[in-house]
Amino acid sequence: MTISQAVAGTALSQEDRYCADTFNGAIASAALSAAWEIGLLDELASAGRVEISAFVASHDADPEAVRAILVALSSRRIVSLDATRAEAVTDMGFESAFSTKGFFYWLTRGCGELFTTLPTMIKKTDREGHFVRRDARAISVACRSIARTFFDPPFRELIEEVHFRTVADLGCGSADRIVMLAGHRPGIRAIGIDMAEGAISVSKEAVGEAGLEDRITLVQDDVLNLTSRPDYEDVDLVTCFLMGHDFWPHDNAVRTLRGLREAFPNLKNLILGDTCRSTGVDGPEHPMFTLGFETVHTVMDQYLPTLEEWQSVLDESGWLIADRRLIDLPAFSFIYRLAPRESGGTR
Ligand SMILES: C[S@@+](CC[C@H](N)C(=O)[O-])C[C@H]1O[C@@H](n2cnc3c(N)ncnc32)[C@H](O)[C@@H]1O
Repeated sequence: MTISQAVAGTALSQEDRYCADTFNGAIASAALSAAWEIGLLDELASAGRVEISAFVASHDADPEAVRAILVALSSRRIVSLDATRAEAVTDMGFESAFSTKGFFYWLTRGCGELFTTLPTMIKKTDREGHFVRRDARAISVACRSIARTFFDPPFRELIEEVHFRTVADLGCGSADRIVMLAGHRPGIRAIGIDMAEGAISVSKEAVGEAGLEDRITLVQDDVLNLTSRPDYEDVDLVTCFLMGHDFWPHDNAVRTLRGLREAFPNLKNLILGDTCRSTGVDGPEHPMFTLGFETVHTVMDQYLPTLEEWQSVLDESGWLIADRRLIDLPAFSFIYRLAPRESGGTR
């Protein structure tokens, strides 16, 4: 074994290699988020390669920092670098990393502070008041990417035959869904509701950019305790993606799901899309996202229901499953079209 082989780790035992991969994966996750935010990932996606000197010139960036990001990505074969480390090209891991970039961004940018301060959130005495901080703006941006890639295609298919005039999106995040709906259906109006300042600010930018201020209203409010508004009378469709788990635990979920029909008295359809708690998954078997989603919500003391628990709560709160799509990634995810039981599930 040469010194450079030893240094490069080619002679590591299987166990040590596995451990080094764990370490490198954490660095690559942060690098992937950074590469997306600074435009490096999009450039690689469109051109298949990036020349470091050209990128740093057009982005006023530090060449060594950009190179360090690319080297970190090369550790997981997302890119590979030439011998002089002047240029990177996409490698066998790129396509999958690009389509799942939202999960990495959610993890490192949205929940970064939670993970770096994890030891301070374990003792019972430290778990009082608002002991967890996440970046609502970054989470909105991450979820926009996750939803566009994994939830929107089945959602668009499911909503094709649904007639509505006014939609309210609960926990609207970036407002991407209502901007998309308003863009596709010129006759509709939309209301985006979110309690986080960071989400509302991303939403305002998106609605402004789309020129839809006259048809989309943004409301900063708590979905679990909605303040009534005259325009809620017009709402005939409610959508809620990636936040339904915030309705839980059980009694809260029943109360919130029943309460939606009072808050929106003319509601005909509720479309709920979310990720559930996994069942039957352990240790190294965890798929993409599941472990992060469950770790974060457990630390935050937020109960995550299983799919079976969702089904029984929907039944108990008077909602009928009229249509559904099950989603493979994120694993254990679903989209349900729900109708008030008394309507019999008509569109
Ligand atoms: C994971 S993000 C999903 C964003 C968006 N629905 C999407 O599909 O991209 C969850 C959003 O729900 C919001 N949220 C969570 N609990 C809420 C509540 N009780 N009332 C209003 N918004 C809430 C958060 O601020 C966040 O923007």
